[in-house]
Amino acid sequence: MIALNAQRSKQLLQEAQLLQPQLTAWRRDFHQHPELAFEEQRTSEKVSCFLKSLNLEISGPFAETGMVALLKGKKPGKTIGLRADMDALPIQEQNTFCFKSENDGKSHACGHDAHTAMLMGAAQLLAKRQPEHGNIAFLFQPAEEVSKGAKAMIDAGALNGIDEMAGLHINAGIDLGKIAFSGKIGCGSTDFFSLTIIGKGGHAAHPDLTVDSVAVTGQVITALQQLASRQIDPADPVVLTIATIHGGTANNAIAPLVKMTGTVRTLNPELRKTMPERMTSIVKGITSAFGADYDLDYTFSSPSIINDDRMTLLAQQTVDALLGKGHRLQSKPSLGGEDFSFYTEQLPSVFFVLGAGSDAIPRHPNHHPQFTVDERALPYGSAVLAALAMNALEN
Ligand code: NI
Repeated sequence: MIALNAQRSKQLLQEAQLLQPQLTAWRRDFHQHPELAFEEQRTSEKVSCFLKSLNLEISGPFAETGMVALLKGKKPGKTIGLRADMDALPIQEQNTFCFKSENDGKSHACGHDAHTAMLMGAAQLLAKRQPEHGNIAFLFQPAEEVSKGAKAMIDAGALNGIDEMAGLHINAGIDLGKIAFSGKIGCGSTDFFSLTIIGKGGHAAHPDLTVDSVAVTGQVITALQQLASRQIDPADPVVLTIATIHGGTANNAIAPLVKMTGTVRTLNPELRKTMPERMTSIVKGITSAFGADYDLDYTFSSPSIINDDRMTLLAQQTVDALLGKGHRLQSKPSLGGEDFSFYTEQLPSVFFVLGAGSDAIPRHPNHHPQFTVDERALPYGSAVLAALAMNALEN
C-alpha cells in the first residue's frame, strides 16, 4: 500500500493555485513566440534562466535545445524525471486573442506551451521542498511533434542517472481539472511510409498500350483498407491512412507514376512489426497482377507508450489524494503518437492526460488552428507533477 500525505497534497494544490498568474504569463509568452522542432532557442533560454533562479543544477544542451535541471535531495536515493516538450507546429494560428502567435505559420496548437509552463511551475513548487532521499530531474525536450526529440535526448545521455519518468499531455476535449489514464498502453505507435506505384505512361486514348498507375493505385488503396478490416484481429486497433497522393500532369495522358505517403498506427507492438510485410504482400500482389511495379519505403518512427503498472498506480493515487476521486477518468488509448514512448522503453514510466476544456474556451482538438486551453488547468498540472515526484521518492 502506498502511503500518501494528504495534508501536503492540499498544500501543494493551494500553492499551485497561487502560481496561476505566473503560469498563465509563461504559457502566453511561449504561445506568442512558438518555435518549431529543434529550433526552441528562445523558449529554452527562458526556461533555463528561470530554472537557474531556483538554484537547480542544469545540464545540457541536449538535442540542440533540450535541458535537464536537477533538484538534489539531502541524501542519495533514486531519481524521478518529469518531462515537458517545448516545440510548436507548422500551423497558421487562427485565434484572435491578444497573445496569438507572432510567428507566421507557426503555433502552439498542441499545448506544449502549457506543458513547458506547468513543468516550470512544478520546479518552483518543489525547489523549496528539498527531498529527504533521492532527486528530481526536470526534462525539457525539443521536437516532440516530429517524434525525434525524446530519442535525441536519450541518445545524448539526458536520462543518465534517472530511474523513473512521468509526463502529461493537455487536452481541451476533457473537462478542466480531470485527469485521464488509459491503462497499460498510453498511445499508438506512429510509423510512416511512402509508396510509389510504377506503371507505364502513354496516350489517354490508348490505355491498352500503357500500364495505368492511377487505375492500379485505386485497387491498391482499396486492398490496403481491407488489410485492417479483413486480415487483422478486430480487437487489435490499426489505422492505415494514405495522407497524400500525387499522379499525372495532363488530362489526356496516362500517368506513369503515382506517389503516396501515409501513416500506420497500432497499439499492439507485435502487430506493429508485421505491418511492412503485410503491406508489401498486398502491394506486390496487386501491382504484379496489373503489370505494374512499386517502391515501398517504410519507416518505424515512435513506439507505443507502455505505462508501468506501479508508476500508474502511484500517479492515480496521487491524483486521488490531490484532487479527489471524482477527478480521475479512465480513457481509451489514442492512436495519436507521443514520443514520450521512447522514455517508456527505457524506464518505468507513466503518462496521463490533463483536461483543460470548459465553456470558457472553444473546445477544439489538438492540432486545430484555433486550439487553446482553459488556463485554469495549469495549476492542476504543476501540482500533480510535483506531488507525483515527491510520492515516487517516498514509495
Ligand atoms: Ni502534443
